Parts: sequence; C-alpha cells; structure tokens
Amino acid sequence: MNDLQGCDKPNFRSVKSSQVVLKELMIPSYANFGGKVHGGIILSLMDKIAYTCAATHSRSYCVTASVDSVDFLSPVEVGELVTLFGSVNYVGRSSMEVGIKVLSEDFKLGVAKHTNTSYFTMVAVDEATRKSSPVPGLILEDDIEVKRFIWGKFRKQYKRDYQARFNSLSKTIDFDQEIKNLQNENCAVNIAAARE
Ligand SMILES: CC(C)(COP(=O)(O)OP(=O)(O)OC[C@H]1O[C@@H](n2cnc3c(N)ncnc32)[C@H](O)[C@@H]1OP(=O)(O)O)[C@@H](O)C(=O)NCCC(=O)NCCS
Repeated sequence: MNDLQGCDKPNFRSVKSSQVVLKELMIPSYANFGGKVHGGIILSLMDKIAYTCAATHSRSYCVTASVDSVDFLSPVEVGELVTLFGSVNYVGRSSMEVGIKVLSEDFKLGVAKHTNTSYFTMVAVDEATRKSSPVPGLILEDDIEVKRFIWGKFRKQYKRDYQARFNSLSKTIDFDQEIKNLQNENCAVNIAAARE
C-alpha cells in the first residue's frame, strides 16, 4: 500500500485530532440498589464521549444511530475513577464508528480494570434539513488505525447482513410450531388466562 494513499485529499482529518479521554469520579449518587455503579451511568458517559469524538471530527451536530453490544466485564465501584478513551475508527459518507474503551481505577489499590469496550455509530445531521450530512474522511497514520478502519467497515457490513437475515427469517417463522417448541423454554404460555 502507498503510505500516502489519499492523504492529499482536502478536508480529511486525522484520527488523533478527534481522540478524547474523559475521566469521571464515581460518586455515591451513581450507585444502584446493590451499591455498585449503575450501568446506565457508564452508558451515558460512553454516549457523551462518542458524541464529542464524532462532533469534533465532523464539526457538525451528530446523533447516536446505534450502539454495539455492551458487555460489562466487571462491576464499577463507588469511589473509583472511570476513564473512557474514544476514537473515530471508521467513517462512511455520514456515519462515524467511535470505538470506546472504559477502564476503572481503584485509588487505594492503584490498579485499573478494563470494564468494557463498545462501538457507537454516530451520524452527522444537518440541523436545518434533519437529514444525514457528509463527514470528512479519516487520515490513517499507523497500522492500528488502518486495522481499526477495516474492522469498522466489516462491522458495518456485518450489521447490515445480520439485519437483512433477521428480517427475512422473521417473515418465515411458523408461530404455531414455535409455541409448541416453547415447552422446553423457561416460560409458561397462558394466553387464555390473560384474555379472561
Ligand atoms: C440516524 C439517522 C439520522 C439515520 O437516518 P437515515 O434516514 O437512515 O439516513 P441515511 O439513510 O442517509 O443513512 C445515514 C447513515 O446512517 C447510517 N445508519 C442509519 N441507521 C443506522 C443504524 N441503525 N445503525 C448504524 N448506522 C445507521 C447509514 O448506514 C448511513 O451511513 P453512511 O452515510 O456512512 O453510509 C436517523 O435514523 C435518526 O435520526 N435516528 C434517531 C437518532 C437519535 O435520535 N438518537 C438519539 C436517541 S435518544
């Protein structure tokens, strides 16, 4: 590959120019009934950093179009310092995939644990027309940035394929048969009682 492939294109921006690090102390009001930090607090911080990265790259108002699965690998405790790293991995015409890594640090032990990683798809939107609007291209400056772009491109394709497969599968489901199959599942079908 030519090292300078596409780098002369106007209005392209580097990955580094929109990378963001966000730190937040986990205060007691963030706790759930079990005393750990509520998952929604972490999701809200992830949405905030995704917006910041995408709006910085595109210099535009953006919306969250989708969030990849978020697996919480370990609980976050009140009193810990959460650090989020956000970076635009991939851009299409108007969409941007922002990769987010979350670490949580226990001050007393001085150790940081990886709590989750996820990918947010943000779309630049024209505030007047409310339609999606084009975003600048991404300048990829090292191997990992190139790999992240390619992974992002495949994730976008994979999501489209998954959605298309699920839509076509859902049209072929035989619900009478599937209701019979539910006897091996952890549910009780009692439709008649609900109708009474
Ligand atoms: C996201 C949104 C602008 C897309 O609108 P749309 O009519 O599908 O727009 P387009 O067809 O022009 O697609 C625009 C881009 O969004 C991407 N996109 C659309 N829906 C998507 C989804 N569910 N997941 C990932 N990407 C999506 C398309 O792939 C396209 O990317 P590209 O331009 O890089 O190729 C629209 O669905 C929207 O406004 N959603 C609500 C967002 C919001 O309010 N979020 C906050 C919730 S509280």
